[in-house]
Amino acid sequence: MANSPGAQGAASQSRDPFVMDVRKIREDARKHMSDGPVTQSYGADRETVLKLLNDALATEIVCTLRYKRHYFMAKGINSEAVAAEFAQHAKEEQEHADRIAERIVQLGGEPDFAPDGLRTRAHSEYKEGGNLTDMIRENLVAERIAIDTYREIVRYLGEKDVTTRRLFEEILAVEEEHADDMADLLQGRE
Ligand SMILES: [Fe+2]
Ligand SMILES: [Fe+2]
Repeated sequence: MANSPGAQGAASQSRDPFVMDVRKIREDARKHMSDGPVTQSYGADRETVLKLLNDALATEIVCTLRYKRHYFMAKGINSEAVAAEFAQHAKEEQEHADRIAERIVQLGGEPDFAPDGLRTRAHSEYKEGGNLTDMIRENLVAERIAIDTYREIVRYLGEKDVTTRRLFEEILAVEEEHADDMADLLQGRE
């Protein structure tokens, strides 16, 4: 194939316009480099958005830890189905934390993973819960707090930072599912 003159001709024909495109992309990248990831069209206050993102990061970390704790404790009291639900939520909260950290870096900030102050930065609380029903109830409360704060953040971001807003909208939808799952579990126990 590579020896066929036809194929080589086609390759050299397509090479030039392709190189031209890359050159333009490189030029554009260089031109806008000094602006960082935040361009002139960025309408939000970057410091405020970074603070909101870092508080949300703390929330997601605390939620991951709480669901992890509940997963292992529920397993210990032979509630495999509930434990599996907790494990699934822990995994999703971890994904939220990762996506938020990624966005912080994109905006030129630094994700705050410091364990000190995690509790105060987070919106939701780390509650261990004495029994299975307590655990489910604490998770439901935490999800409801996350839902309300994320909704506020979405409202604040509006059209000012659409990418961050979309991220929060997507996370919010998952938190609503989580709350629904916990409400269902609780209903079967009360
Ligand atoms: Fe989450
Ligand atoms: Fe959640």
